[in-house]
Amino acid sequence: MAERLFFALWPGEAERAALVRLQHGLPLRGGRVTHPEDLHITLAFLGEVLPERRACYEAAAQDVRAAPFDLGLTRVGYWPRPRILWCGPHAEPAQLLALVQTLTDALRPCGFPGEGRPYAAHLTLARKVAAYDGRASPAATDWRLDWTIAGFVLAASREGPPPRYRVLRRWAFETASPESPLCDNARLSGRGRGGDERVAVPP
Ligand code: 2AM
Repeated sequence: MAERLFFALWPGEAERAALVRLQHGLPLRGGRVTHPEDLHITLAFLGEVLPERRACYEAAAQDVRAAPFDLGLTRVGYWPRPRILWCGPHAEPAQLLALVQTLTDALRPCGFPGEGRPYAAHLTLARKVAAYDGRASPAATDWRLDWTIAGFVLAASREGPPPRYRVLRRWAFETASPESPLCDNARLSGRGRGGDERVAVPP
């Protein structure tokens, strides 16, 4: 059976708590805040995927090489057409763009077409937001979250009540020191099919 899949950055507990605080400090008109367990930043949206193709995508992800990097979420934005309130970086760091490019290139032989538009890192805070005036929101203007990106996940999406997304598998970047901590996702590894898999090398 086909599953709706995507690769994403998944927050750890500390980041998730900070994001939930932000969600509740914002002056929303209408809208539905994203369930805490659904908060993430998409790297590559795969759409409906059959099992044999999923295996190809997972093998491709296994070969992605990267080192941990810092991602500063510093901006709260609103897209009126999809009516999405989001947060993200003011500019995507080079390491994030490189990660998306490397992952995209690795996935292409499996049939992933890539995105037609430039990558815009965003974490959806709320959907169906009728209007949003960020200037009237000190909670947004003074906000920032420093997130160390130390891995990525494959997640599945389903219809129905939230939480709607489920982490299927995680990959942790290799750090220079064997003592370096894995990404926060490691603490949740019991929920997936297995623990983190180290796939990356130092720069
Ligand atoms: P969104 O938060 O901006 O809606 C799971 O659906 C994830 O994949 C969400 O982060 C969603 O982004 C993203 N997504 C859904 N459909 C997409 C599409 N057609 N292209 C790119 N990303 C998509």
